[in-house]
Amino acid sequence: MENQIVEIDMANVGHGNPAWIAALEAGKVLYFPNFAEHGFKPQKEELALFREDIRDPKSRNISLDSSGKLKGAVGGDDVQTMMAGMIGRFRAEAEGLLGNLVPRYGEHLRRGAVSFRPSKVETRVQSWRADDRRMHVDAFPSRPNRGERLLRVFTNVNLEGAPRVWRVGEPFEDVAKRFLPRVKKYVPWQAKALNALGVTKSLRSEYDHLMLQLHDAMKADLDYQKNAPQVTFNFPPGCAWVCFSDQASHGVMAGQYMMEHTLQLSPMQQYDKDASPLAILTRLQGHALI
Ligand code: SIN
Ligand code: FE
Repeated sequence: MENQIVEIDMANVGHGNPAWIAALEAGKVLYFPNFAEHGFKPQKEELALFREDIRDPKSRNISLDSSGKLKGAVGGDDVQTMMAGMIGRFRAEAEGLLGNLVPRYGEHLRRGAVSFRPSKVETRVQSWRADDRRMHVDAFPSRPNRGERLLRVFTNVNLEGAPRVWRVGEPFEDVAKRFLPRVKKYVPWQAKALNALGVTKSLRSEYDHLMLQLHDAMKADLDYQKNAPQVTFNFPPGCAWVCFSDQASHGVMAGQYMMEHTLQLSPMQQYDKDASPLAILTRLQGHALI
């Protein structure tokens, strides 16, 4: 398999490097080993926030939404303010990095949530469908996105030297060709019923249906998990990585303390519109999906 991870020195990020843009839009993971020196790192007083029990057990992670509301942190006003400050600083650096990497996305990027994830990956107990240790492409059952891209920036902020260990799998088109023949057909009346019942926040399009089917089919297939083309990569503390997580096949095997920012982008705003999952699935299926 062609190398799925592209290393970039923060000092060389420059402005709109075509090779890196093409790699990102091909579903590769861009890796920035020295993000902490040039971008974000926690400040001394913020080290007090690095406790697993800083997360409210009722929330999956601690996040700041696009309206500035902090959720999921346990503690008084001082903790809430410091947490929001730290997460907000990471968001600014992550967006600054994207501004240099993919300048044309610019104001078309829509901010989603930005999060701090203090939980240990290895010991998390989850259903197979929610288990992100199994390689998958991101797709969310309740939030149809009609082909909108999920662009994510991650940084490992572990203080004890533990890497964030990912598996990165085969290119999206290979995933799609492998699993599309086995997926359930889209049934429009079922999508309408799910929407009427409030299971989905809007109507699930055929695109959203196929993406969920791919997500589930990948995770359910243990032989695929074990034997599919893949590389294991250790993201060390202080580094960052960026990918379209609706396209890059990924699974997280180990690690604790990570920050992550999710942005959305219309596939029409990509440098190469034909590289998006929507374009690939439309081509493979031979009809419009949204
Ligand atoms: C994910 O699978 O989207 C989460 C990755 C991680 O927690 O490192
Ligand atoms: Fe994921």
